[in-house]
Parts: sequence; structure tokens; C-alpha cells
Amino acid sequence: MKPAISRPDLLRRLPRKRLSLLRELGTLADERGVSLYLVGGVVRDLLVKRKNFDLDVTVEGDGVAFARLVADRYGAGLAIFERFATGRLVLANGIKLDIASTRRESYSKPAALPDVEKALLKEDLYRRDFTINAMAIQLNAAHFGHLHDPYEGQCDLKAKTIRVLHEGSFVDDPTRIFRAIRFAQRFGFHLESETARLLEVAAATDLIAQLSGPRLCNEILLLFSEPQPQRSLEQLAKLNLLRFLHPDLRYAGTSKQIVRSLPKALAWWTRCCGQHFLDRPLLHLMALLDGVEQPVVEAVVARLTLSHEQAMRVRAGGKRLKVVVRGLRGARRLRPSKVCRLLNGLPEEALVLCLARAGGQAATVARVKQRIFDYATTFRTISTALRGDDLLRLGIEPGPPVGRMLALLLEAKLDGVVKGKAGERAFVRARLAGAS
Ligand code: CTP
Repeated sequence: MKPAISRPDLLRRLPRKRLSLLRELGTLADERGVSLYLVGGVVRDLLVKRKNFDLDVTVEGDGVAFARLVADRYGAGLAIFERFATGRLVLANGIKLDIASTRRESYSKPAALPDVEKALLKEDLYRRDFTINAMAIQLNAAHFGHLHDPYEGQCDLKAKTIRVLHEGSFVDDPTRIFRAIRFAQRFGFHLESETARLLEVAAATDLIAQLSGPRLCNEILLLFSEPQPQRSLEQLAKLNLLRFLHPDLRYAGTSKQIVRSLPKALAWWTRCCGQHFLDRPLLHLMALLDGVEQPVVEAVVARLTLSHEQAMRVRAGGKRLKVVVRGLRGARRLRPSKVCRLLNGLPEEALVLCLARAGGQAATVARVKQRIFDYATTFRTISTALRGDDLLRLGIEPGPPVGRMLALLLEAKLDGVVKGKAGERAFVRARLAGAS
């Protein structure tokens, strides 16, 4: 193996607590007589000076035994994944640490999870996705900070190149197709020509169809978490990969327009209304699904095995927002209760989509913005002073009439027709008198 080079500056780029933890782990590894390395994305990110809070270490030896030792020493929570000979620890100070054993992987069939066998560091690095992710920094005291880079990862980092380590890489693990797009977009790198060819060949096969829902979902949402998801979407469309979500899915027309309007809409939302949680990756998925019929939305929800919560958000988007946006764009005065009728029940993502859909004349966009702003910051926080029990005491029949009266009361309050608790009571009495 090419000799490691001493790069003490790299680990010093880590926050102090993490650096001292790694030093201590190196000493512990010395006591155990095993070699210990920091590996994967964090090494790449140290080299390009990018923040990364993942600590992935690997032991040339028994990683699980070492993970148990570390967990004991630090009183840390530990989860062991026997199949992959790895352990995940959460230390008392909140630092998360993944400990693996250096290993070689073989795939019983393409896209399956790998079978693993212990191996030396060089082989462990060789099984990885790209050269830029196949470097390690040693942590044992005598070699602390030594960079192992047997496959020229540093060189590729400098040349802004994504390169696979062997030609079976995308076939073994088709999630790497998405990873290549993700890293290329994130770092502004290009795919080395043979890597690009292998990726295109793999993308043209049905390998991705064999990925489980959660694995495919993870890759799609990770792509959409990057700063410019529209670029990744263009790549997905160019490689015809959207077919793996649904054969009818296209990135064109309105969905493209909406995705392109999202950065501006999101920036405004965050500045003016963004006090609630918004799932940005899911928002991009919703934008992609904007023009499709409900059965396609359902098929994508099922393919990606979205959680109940995610599925609810995604279902709130789609074609139905067309009607909502038409209502919001209208020039006529719109009573607050009407705005609420249009927007009630929509998750935050759908509100941002409405804004991204509003496109057109500046005056129209401003009107939609104002209505969404009023709704998000004021209207939806308003509630009636009277509760169900109060209505029963005023003589409303139990059951659905209570809900109906509360809704009427709220609308009247939103529109300024009633004010204060006494006003609400008078409103209810008047409705009751009118009904009898
Ligand atoms: N890896 C791989 N093949 C995959 C996934 C991961 O070879 N399909 C290896 C790479 O060496 C990668 C490391 O496992 O660097 C850690 O994976 P992960 O945490 O998913 O990726 P990162 O490279 O850390 O990327 P990110 O910065 O997006 O977290």
C-alpha cells in the first residue's frame, strides 16, 4: 500500500471536543493492539474544509468488540448491527460515533445488501463508492493524523472528479447512481468519463427497480436536501431515472416551472412566515408531483414507502392546489374566512407550493403572498372564545350542530362580524332564534 502521509493539520480542523475524543480513541485502540482510522465522508470533508458532524471510524480487527469497549469507557448508548459488524454510539455529550470493522463486501445479487468479511484497510477502502470517499486518517497515537489515500482520492478532489474504484460499483449498489449525482451537484464536480459511462449503462438497466422503498426514498430525499435540487432533478430527468418513481412522471412544464420558482418562494416564506417546521426535501418531491393525477401520487407514495406523515403532506399537493391558487389570485376582495376555507388543512409545504404556483404579473403574485402571509401569521391563529361546552349551555344540540356552530362563529370572528365573548354569545343566540 502507498505510504500514508502525515497531515496533522487535517484533524485539527475538527471542533476541539471531537478532536480530543479521536485522540482518546486512538489511545484506546493502542491499548487493544488494533489499528483505528477515521474514514469516509468526514475525511473528504476535512480535505475540502467542509463541516461534517459524522464521525465514522473503522477498526482493523474486531469493530464490535471495540465499540463495546468504547461504550463501556464512556457510558455511551450502543446499538450493534451484527450483519455489518458495526456499532453506533451516542456519547453523553451528544456526539454520535459509528464504529465498523475494516471489511470486504460481496453482493449475492445486484442491488442486494452486501455480505461482509473482515479485511485490511486497503480492501475496505476499495469497496467504497468513489475515490474521494475512499480515504482514511489513522488515529493510533504513533500515527495520529496520517492520511491513507491508496486510490488517489486527493488528486480527484483537486481535479473535482467523481471516479468509481471498480467497474462493478454501480451494479453492486445502484444507490451510487444517485450518490454520484448528489456529490457532483454538491461540490460542482464532474464525473470522470469511464465513471459517467458506467453510470449511464447502469441507469439504463432495471437495477434501481430492485432497490427497496426506504433505500430509494432515502436517496431521493437526500438529493432534494442539497442546496440546488433543481439541478439534480434535471440530471434525474436526463438519465430517465424518474421512471423508477413512476413511468408517467416527467420533469417538464409546470413541475419544472414550480421547482424553479421554489428558491424564491422558500426564501420569502422563511423570512416572513417560517416559524413552523417545513420539510424542504419533501417540498421538492411535491413540486415534482405537481401536475400529476392522484393515482400517480399514490403510486409514488407507495413506491417510496413514505411515512404516514410524509404521505399526508404529499397528498395535500398535486392538482388540487390549482383551485386553491386560482382562488388566491382573484382580484376581488377576499374575506379572511374565504382565505381560510381555501388554505385550512394544508401543510406548510403546500402553502409554499401555492406561492411558487402563483407566477404571473407582479400584482397577482403580491396578492397571493399577502393572503398567504395573513393566513400563516394571523388568520390561522385565531380561535373562538366560546368552546363546545359553552354552546351546549346556550342550547345547541349535542353532536354535529356544535361543530357547525363553532365553524360559523369562527368565520364571523375572522371577518370581524363578531367581537369578544359577549359578541360571540349574542351571535349564537341570534342564530338559534333565527333557526327556531
Ligand atoms: N459508502 C459507499 N457506498 C454507499 C454508501 C456509502 O461506499 N452506497 C461509503 C463511502 O465511503 C462514504 C461512507 O460509506 O463516504 C459513508 O457513507 P455516508 O455517510 O452515506 O456518506 P458520506 O460520504 O458521509 O456523504 P454525506 O456527506 O452526504 O453524508
